[in-house]
Amino acid sequence: MYKLIAILIAFALSLGVTMTVNAAGDAAKGKALFQYCEACHGAQGEGNKAYNAPVIGGQEAWYVERQLKNFKSGIRGADHRDVNGAQMFPMARTMVDDDAIANVAAYVSSLKPPAPTATVKGDPAAGKTSFAVCVACHGANAEGNKALNAPRLSGQHDWYVMRQIKNFKEGIRGLNPKDTFGAQMRPMALTLATDDMISNVTAYIQSLKR
Ligand code: HEC
Ligand code: HEC
Repeated sequence: MYKLIAILIAFALSLGVTMTVNAAGDAAKGKALFQYCEACHGAQGEGNKAYNAPVIGGQEAWYVERQLKNFKSGIRGADHRDVNGAQMFPMARTMVDDDAIANVAAYVSSLKPPAPTATVKGDPAAGKTSFAVCVACHGANAEGNKALNAPRLSGQHDWYVMRQIKNFKEGIRGLNPKDTFGAQMRPMALTLATDDMISNVTAYIQSLKR
């Protein structure tokens, strides 16, 4: 298992060098576009559980951009079981071109939402053990790592983190043949064999402050 993980991480590294070319967006222009996002994600990008919408404020712009492009092109959110992705998919399609996506991503990234409150019951101490695998890409404080294409996880709602781990595990996310980066994450979700392990690692991530 660990050998497989080492190979995947080496693969991720090699992609990181060649595939993260993003033009910097214009946050001022992006602010006007953000009016379409606020209804679900909140004025500070703080997310809203009632709409299943995650924190996006303060997330790295390159990752926000990639997800908007993935939703827009059906790389993410098109699986028939992905009820939450299906809500986001039409929103990404309101972004007319790559410039609009870069601009809204720059604005989203500049926001500073408050830290979310914990909702998932789990054992953070047990979760820390499982998180050792995640550190290689997401960083010791789950701060993310652009070179490895891995987003920030700290400061995210725990219910969303848990759902994404399950989505990757069940192949609701990360199985589209064009989803290069989801394909790197999916085997990592499969290292979490039980729902308890998922709750525990989620509780540990929740304990890491942004
Ligand atoms: C109708 C509600 C709704 C609106 C409006 C909306 N979103 Fe979303 N968005 C969601 C939901 C629900 C998800 C979570 C999908 C999932 O669980 O996979 C999401 C996910 C995302 C993600 C992925 C976050 C991550 O960590 O991977 C990004 C980025 C995003 N939205 C940006 C935007 C932007 C930018 C806009 C405005 C153009 C917008 N959203 C408008 C509901 C919405
Ligand atoms: C080989 C590198 C790598 C490792 C190790 C890794 N991840 Fe990831 N992870 C990624 C990448 C790349 C993405 C972004 C996928 C995308 O762009 O859709 C990701 C995405 C995620 C997401 C979705 C974030 C969001 O905002 O939607 C979660 C949650 C996550 N990882 C949790 C974990 C956990 C928990 C572990 C350890 C069990 C882990 N990851 C290990 C590379 C990795």
